[in-house]
Amino acid sequence: MTIDRLGAGAWERAVEQSEICPKDFVSSSTYDDSVTLSLVGLCAGAFKVEIPQFLEMFGEYWVVFASSGPYASLMRVAGSTLPVLLTNLDRLHQSVQAVMADAMLPSFVVIKDEPNLLWVRYCSKRTGLETFATGLLKGLMAKFSVQGTVEIINRGDAGIDYEIRCRQSV
Ligand code: HEM
Repeated sequence: MTIDRLGAGAWERAVEQSEICPKDFVSSSTYDDSVTLSLVGLCAGAFKVEIPQFLEMFGEYWVVFASSGPYASLMRVAGSTLPVLLTNLDRLHQSVQAVMADAMLPSFVVIKDEPNLLWVRYCSKRTGLETFATGLLKGLMAKFSVQGTVEIINRGDAGIDYEIRCRQSV
């Protein structure tokens, strides 16, 4: 996203400030969260936004990114409507787990599915990524041309509950 929106120079400057060697990155490999978080902080700085806002922007961006290129077919088979794709997200991530054994993948469960209203429970072993999930849900709404709002309505031991209110039936 940083290269795409701010140019290769911005990404190179962010990587230079970190202790990470760009050549160490190999597609479909996992990295320590400290590496990812350091890059997130540096990229947020490049965009001149706070980390939660950056994560939300990145969530929206990820849906567009994953919907084209190598992940496009995975996204396509996951579902052609917002509720169906959300219901299939765990299956999608399970297929990712099959090729990335070390990945620590989240879980999403649709706990309410009404024509204009969805409640989705996000459960993760990580903390601090709730605005990333907000951005992803907003990105999925945009992907399916659904207008409406996303809001956190509950935080509990079982996960974080998001309410998606849609202006049209989904
Ligand atoms: C083809 C599409 C997708 C692929 C290949 C994919 C793959 C991944 C991978 C590899 C991770 C990191 C796991 C790790 O290394 O520990 C991840 C994390 C995550 N994914 Fe996906 N994903 C996709 C689509 C989505 C979508 C549409 C959502 C929408 C809600 C989503 C939500 C998340 C969240 C919130 C995390 C953060 C992990 C955490 O909470 O610990 N993903 N995904």
